[in-house]
Amino acid sequence: MAGEIITIQVGQCGNQVGKQFWSQLCREHGIEFDGQSKVKDDPSMTRTDDPNPFFKQNDRNRYTPRAIMLDLEPSAVQDVQSNFPDFFDNRNVWISPEELGAGNSWSKGYDHGYARQEDFLNMIDKEIDATENFEGFQLIHSVAGGTGSGLGSSLLEAISDRYHKKFLTSYSVFPSDESEVVIQPYNTVLTMKRLAENSDASIVFDNNALLNLTTRVFRDPYTSYLHTNQLISAAMSSITNSIRFPNYMYNSLPSIFSALVPAPELHFLTSSFTPFTSDYVTGGKEFKSNTAYDVLLDLFDTTNFLVTRNTDNPIYFNIYCSLIGQAEQNDILRAISKAQQRLTFAPWSSSSLHVNVGRRSPYLPPHARHTYYNGLMLSNTSAITSLLGGTCKTFDKIFSKGAFLNTFKDGRMFQNGWDEFTESREVVQNVIEEYLAAEQETYLDDVLIEDENMVGHQDMQLDAEGDDII
Ligand code: GTP
Repeated sequence: MAGEIITIQVGQCGNQVGKQFWSQLCREHGIEFDGQSKVKDDPSMTRTDDPNPFFKQNDRNRYTPRAIMLDLEPSAVQDVQSNFPDFFDNRNVWISPEELGAGNSWSKGYDHGYARQEDFLNMIDKEIDATENFEGFQLIHSVAGGTGSGLGSSLLEAISDRYHKKFLTSYSVFPSDESEVVIQPYNTVLTMKRLAENSDASIVFDNNALLNLTTRVFRDPYTSYLHTNQLISAAMSSITNSIRFPNYMYNSLPSIFSALVPAPELHFLTSSFTPFTSDYVTGGKEFKSNTAYDVLLDLFDTTNFLVTRNTDNPIYFNIYCSLIGQAEQNDILRAISKAQQRLTFAPWSSSSLHVNVGRRSPYLPPHARHTYYNGLMLSNTSAITSLLGGTCKTFDKIFSKGAFLNTFKDGRMFQNGWDEFTESREVVQNVIEEYLAAEQETYLDDVLIEDENMVGHQDMQLDAEGDDII
């Protein structure tokens, strides 16, 4: 049985994305928004899915998310709770009694998190008590506001300190180019340090790419966070498909991410997804017959990326694709071979594409298309440096002038000056340099990681027939 995963949602963005994620998981597992299983009403249906990694189940066939919701102001959490009456465990909800938010200040968010660290760890401990084979965490947050970034940062430190053997992933939303708030680059760099040092894998999104995608995916001219968050939750649900609809491979966080992370320093991942149909977004594309070949190749199209990339020819280190549908093995092999010709891999990389063929949820409304696929790709590529480099550039501009530092000066991290900024900036620079170094042939000589030691080294392993036989 797959291990349990605890989801921690922090701040407005974290909780709003979480709302879409749980809504998607409910649909995929036949669970009502109050936690009642739809499966019990039909005795002919036995579960072939496994909600257990993400849900606790009680003896009345009711499911409760293994989720913790934290915020410094009530609106986002209350919205989630009113959307899902009696669904979440109230003991796992914390809203600051002051209800003031962090005012976009990392420092305020961090200090609140630090002051409440023991309370949060107790909450997590109790949640872990309700597991049998606890596997790890996924944190959802924005790196730019005060709470998701600051409180999220203190939590990342505390979690990796207390549960350092458990897998810690993050879904981290970067701001758009036109930062709404001038101190966002400070918040982002300070948070990046914690992601670099404490998370095992961070899947990075940015609001530029998300907003561009929403105008194409939704026929609604008024894009909103509801739209961007459905795109993120489509990626999240596909990443975890092989855990929730168990397969013989990729049925744990480490097995998925070890196929992608060749060295601990290189753990910032980008994603793409296509097509966004009504399985994943409201008012999404109609189901049109497609092939696994088309979908796999479309995943490399820059317009399908959920993060901005400023290059048409990125250098890839590792690639993992999750195809949902009854895939044809030949199609997949053809697509892999085509992709390998088209893409540029780092010289030391095995140039392999790890492909998982996942199952579509039986609880989603049936559609008439027999040949139909959705695809997700996670890639580890040096193209991530354009996003990180852009953040550093705006950070340097304001920090070199000592601008907008007032909101930080009372913070516990800044009592002795601004060293924390300089150190965090250095950490981000190191990540960028590591990614650039990894483009070179000699990279592995330095880090001494043998390709054979990477889990999932095979060129491709897939269960195209869905019969558990490769
Ligand atoms: P405070 O408001 O300072 O207490 O912190 P917070 O973490 O609650 O702030 P928030 O999550 O609103 O973070 C601000 C950043 O996140 C900005 O870049 C917003 O554009 C972005 N953001 C806020 N909500 C959402 C959301 O639901 N989806 C997406 N994609 N981005 C969001």
